[in-house]
Amino acid sequence: MASLARTFASSLANRSYRAVPASASAFKFASVGFSNNDDQKQSNAGQMRHHSTTSVPDFSKYKKTKNSGEASRNFAYMMIGSTGLVSAAGAQATVSDFLANMSASADVLALAKAEVELASIPEGKNVTIKWRGKPVFIRHRTEAEIAEANQVSINELRDPQQDAERVKDPKWLVMLGVCTHLGCVPIGEAGDFGGWYCPCHGSHYDISGRIRKGPAPLNLEIPEYNFQEDKLIIG
Ligand code: FES
Repeated sequence: MASLARTFASSLANRSYRAVPASASAFKFASVGFSNNDDQKQSNAGQMRHHSTTSVPDFSKYKKTKNSGEASRNFAYMMIGSTGLVSAAGAQATVSDFLANMSASADVLALAKAEVELASIPEGKNVTIKWRGKPVFIRHRTEAEIAEANQVSINELRDPQQDAERVKDPKWLVMLGVCTHLGCVPIGEAGDFGGWYCPCHGSHYDISGRIRKGPAPLNLEIPEYNFQEDKLIIG
């Protein structure tokens, strides 16, 4: 142990240390030296700018003044409002044109209604006209036919309807000439009940257009119609 201590002491005694060569003043000197170089560079750059031949325009009149922000905002609001008004006017014109095109023209309206001179149909006769692409039967019924139509008990009918429910004026029976079975056109003054007969599958209608026999499920349909003086207006 003693020899180990002696060896350690000897090594400490033989170790040499180098003196620190740099002092605080040396560092300060170096720092001052670098600072002087930067100032020189900046000074040179300033001289270069100072000697530049580029002329810069005067933009001072375009610079925003204190109230310019508010003025430009008001202008923007005015432009947005004006654009909205113009757009609304354009939309209104477009919608008006669209509706004008969608509305029925005079010739279409004329086709939608049919006008018949009642005086041209003798009593006891049928007339068939075309209305909206379909046949319409108009029958000028006799007193005997009216009485016959009213004698039928609705209990025996497949599609129970009084004759009075099917006419506005008992003299005039107005019906669509389309069989309610599969759409054939029945023949007038034919069949077992003195009314109409559909030859397609054998349906018989009476003098009120009610189904009495055969496969048709319903009475002949009554269209919208009115009387105007001595005219019948269908549709
Ligand atoms: S279509 Fe008239 S009876 Fe069939």
